[in-house]
Amino acid sequence: PGAPDLTGRHIVVSAGGTREPIDPVRFLGNWSSGRQGCALAAAAAQCGARVTLVQAHVSPELLAALPARVETVPAGTALEMEAAVRRAATDADAVIMAAAVADHRPARVAATKIKKHDAADGPDGPAASPAAIDLTENPDILAGLVADPPRPGQIVMGFAAETGDEAAGVLEHGAAKARRKGADLLAVNQVGGGRGFGEVPNSVIVLDRKGERVAQAQGSKEDVARALIALIGERLDGGPGS
Ligand code: PMT
Repeated sequence: PGAPDLTGRHIVVSAGGTREPIDPVRFLGNWSSGRQGCALAAAAAQCGARVTLVQAHVSPELLAALPARVETVPAGTALEMEAAVRRAATDADAVIMAAAVADHRPARVAATKIKKHDAADGPDGPAASPAAIDLTENPDILAGLVADPPRPGQIVMGFAAETGDEAAGVLEHGAAKARRKGADLLAVNQVGGGRGFGEVPNSVIVLDRKGERVAQAQGSKEDVARALIALIGERLDGGPGS
């Protein structure tokens, strides 16, 4: 499909990777650069949409290169992202969750830097280094948008980052995720081994909420973004499969 006319539409895109604090200097994170999400935001803006980009730790260079029509909202952790996405989505026609959101966060955030235990410090030194970090589950933002949409009828697209290839069952995992999360569209992409994260080409297979393949796209992240925005434009217009 060609470039859709998204004039008058509001599209919310999430991008980047959340960081879940362990103590004031450390976090649990992931390798998402936010490049795919920024490309989606730019593609939607180029089609005339008003775009809100909720971004977690995306580099200033990527943010500075966005079209002026893209409003950016920072959200560093999963909880901050949930609040910012839901707020922005109240008048959105479509929400695209391209961010890599941590499924878990440390159950407790230490108020001061966790010190390494050193026997030489004697009994008054730092307590033993923690052998493990207790985790607690983060909300699933995408599943929440499906279960309780900020604006009923809006299109919700998720991404599924899967390691392995088609032979290793990446599509089966993706289809199970599509059915479980219930988003209108789920773009399954392979990550790891030089694919997926960062300044690399991308390749996605798009599934519907039943787990059936409706489209695929590959090339640069900009190419993939244009194809996905065209698919969303089609659905907004009540096109095939809407
Ligand atoms: O940022 P780049 O470097 O360009 O890389 C792009 C990308 C690989 C990060 C991107 O294309 C991508 O796949 N993003 C989703 C990564 C991810 O978190 O996948 P997941 O399978 O863990 O999650 C599935 C979906 O649920 C995603 O839409 C995610 O945003 C959403 N989710 C996940 C966990 C959570 N607690 N809440 C969520 O909403």
